[in-house]
Amino acid sequence: MKRKTKLSPKAASGGELHQIATGKVPILTTQQGTPISDDQNSLKVGPRGPVTLDDFHLREKLFHFDHERIPERVVHARGFGAHGFFENYESLASITAADLFQRAGERTPAFVRFSTVAGNKGSADLARDVRGFAVKLYTQQGNWDIVGNNIPVFFIQDAMKFPDLVHAAKQEPDRGFPQAQTAHDNFWDFISLMPESMHMIMWAMSDRAIPRGFRFMEGFGVHTYRFVTAEGKSRFVKFHWKPKLGLQSVLWNEAVKINGADPDFHRRDLWNAIQSGSFPEWELGLQLFDEKFAERFEFDVLDATKLIPEEQIPIRRVGRLVLDRCVDNFFAETEQVAFCTNNIIPGVDFSNDPLLQGRNFSYLDTQVKRLGGPNFAKIPINAPKCPFHHLQQDGHMAMVNPVGRVNYEPNSVAGIEGGPRESPDKGFRSFEAEESGHKVRERSASFADHYSQARQFFISQTPMEQGHIADALVFELSKVENPAIRSRIVSHLLNIDDTLAGRVTSGLGIREKIKAAPASVPTRTDLKPSKALSIALNPPKTFEGRKVGVVITDGVNRGLLDNLKKEIAALGATIELVAPAVGGVVSDDGTHIPANQKIGGAPSVLYDAVALLPSEAGATLLMKNGAAIEFILDAFGHCKFIGWVSAAAPLFEKAGIAGDLDGGCIELASPKSVVQFLDSCRNVRFWEREQNTKF
Ligand code: HEM
Repeated sequence: MKRKTKLSPKAASGGELHQIATGKVPILTTQQGTPISDDQNSLKVGPRGPVTLDDFHLREKLFHFDHERIPERVVHARGFGAHGFFENYESLASITAADLFQRAGERTPAFVRFSTVAGNKGSADLARDVRGFAVKLYTQQGNWDIVGNNIPVFFIQDAMKFPDLVHAAKQEPDRGFPQAQTAHDNFWDFISLMPESMHMIMWAMSDRAIPRGFRFMEGFGVHTYRFVTAEGKSRFVKFHWKPKLGLQSVLWNEAVKINGADPDFHRRDLWNAIQSGSFPEWELGLQLFDEKFAERFEFDVLDATKLIPEEQIPIRRVGRLVLDRCVDNFFAETEQVAFCTNNIIPGVDFSNDPLLQGRNFSYLDTQVKRLGGPNFAKIPINAPKCPFHHLQQDGHMAMVNPVGRVNYEPNSVAGIEGGPRESPDKGFRSFEAEESGHKVRERSASFADHYSQARQFFISQTPMEQGHIADALVFELSKVENPAIRSRIVSHLLNIDDTLAGRVTSGLGIREKIKAAPASVPTRTDLKPSKALSIALNPPKTFEGRKVGVVITDGVNRGLLDNLKKEIAALGATIELVAPAVGGVVSDDGTHIPANQKIGGAPSVLYDAVALLPSEAGATLLMKNGAAIEFILDAFGHCKFIGWVSAAAPLFEKAGIAGDLDGGCIELASPKSVVQFLDSCRNVRFWEREQNTKF
């Protein structure tokens, strides 16, 4: 019997919706291009009968869905990427032959992926963790990847220990938790037996490990690399990325709450900034030094647990990295991008850092598995943007095999058909370093000082920052069940700083006397504090890129709100209106103002500063709204600047802080006070408050 063709939603016998291709809307097809007539129903013997095996459309759709997931990265699984460019300031031909540095003003396309290390792909952004900062530069001489972190040193010195480090940091194997946290026995057990990790631990327990956003953190290549000139002369180099918006982190109590309120806080921040045209920017800084400096430096430049203080080798800023485009598709770009320390270009070379050399193997190896075969370099996000010619072929998913008859060399075919050929002039040449020695499985004695730079980092922090490090250690170690591990960590801290060890000992309630761990090299106390290592000593002095949460209710003063909006925009900051309902409020002049957030869904931890603009009647209603009171209490406790109108005063009463208002709480009584409020916001936080409001 001939059946009626279903052409409109009305014709659907089961009540399901059919959306039909008309006009220029493309027709849905299978992967093979066969047009589809019905994407709502499988092929059955009668509407209630069994599904038939010849339903190729159903089978293809399910087959493809079944294979959508690929393995997540073994580390740095959670990440977020964006496109941009690197712009070179001036020719660096005298220090490197790297093509992107030869011409002033030249732009090189870039792709950057930020990440956390330990958490799985779906973990929350504000985990206490190192952040990955991986940059792919699509140069005219091939792709150059600077695969770095937001911390300039690392936990371990030799690649041999990387699998152990990662096993210990990730969820414990028997129970599968905790996720994205180092606050557990396995991590601290391992660390307590690896004194080389102590410098990194100081950084990881500092506020560097809970950044306000990717836009507010530094990046570091970590290892010592080489720059090589066209004449074959080499110098060592360390890479730094310096954020234009300055450094900023959140407090631990905020981090914990942000993870609940918006687990995508960092990725949303980057996405919103780029989409609104406020393009994040970093300057590339170089620390350049020669063999002579390397020899006289207190530590081994091949040891990734050490840094070179900026006071000893100043940073030369040579260009800027701008992120100006979000990805079109998260999977195709951010998930499939494959960074590798191995990807370098003429003019750049490796040093003998044993951690770096292990990485050079590991990335390519893992990506063969993660991306399903040896052809992942041909995925558009990974492919070079310069011409490339080689004789590699076939393998899974070979998309672009070389054309022509000749796939070997040398060959006797003349001209273009015989190519590609090698180029002694233009091709990559490794720096001709002189190497000698016995083949040994041995750590250099020059790597043996495990505590001196940990101490230097600690004494470079302000008392507030030192307090945060102590608090973080107490928090993490309080989650460790085995008391012997806690005590072992304290024994290492005793080699770093007595007051730190004392604070952690009392924070953990340890009663027995702990002796300092035996140190293979005694801690140096002559290393001077380095200002560059502190966030607080390098305040951003700008409110650009920050966000103000403004609480409004019916009856809000429209003139004041408009003024606040104008001044915030003038600073390059953004505003979000937080109201009892997302539908918005009616202002004092009778106009409707839509809100961005409902108050319970947007706690103040999501903002850098807050303003409270309720009407009197609105404030009375907010007094009964627990989320509103918590909003205020947290903003105060997290040392944020608070702008407020007199009608908000009862809310401070209700929150129990009316008597504590300080210089960071600014009444918005006039246009001048709005300017004063936003001027103060340039300091980002009113830290003076912290000692009275500890969480
Ligand atoms: C021997 C030490 C190390 C080994 C064996 C290692 C190995 C790996 C592996 C296997 C991945 C996953 C790559 C992928 O699936 O695409 C990865 C990712 C990453 N690693 Fe390492 N890693 C080491 C040390 C470091 C250090 C010292 C840094 C920082 C300087 C670092 C930064 C990164 C970053 C940023 C990513 C994420 C790249 C992305 O966004 O796709 N790693 N690492």
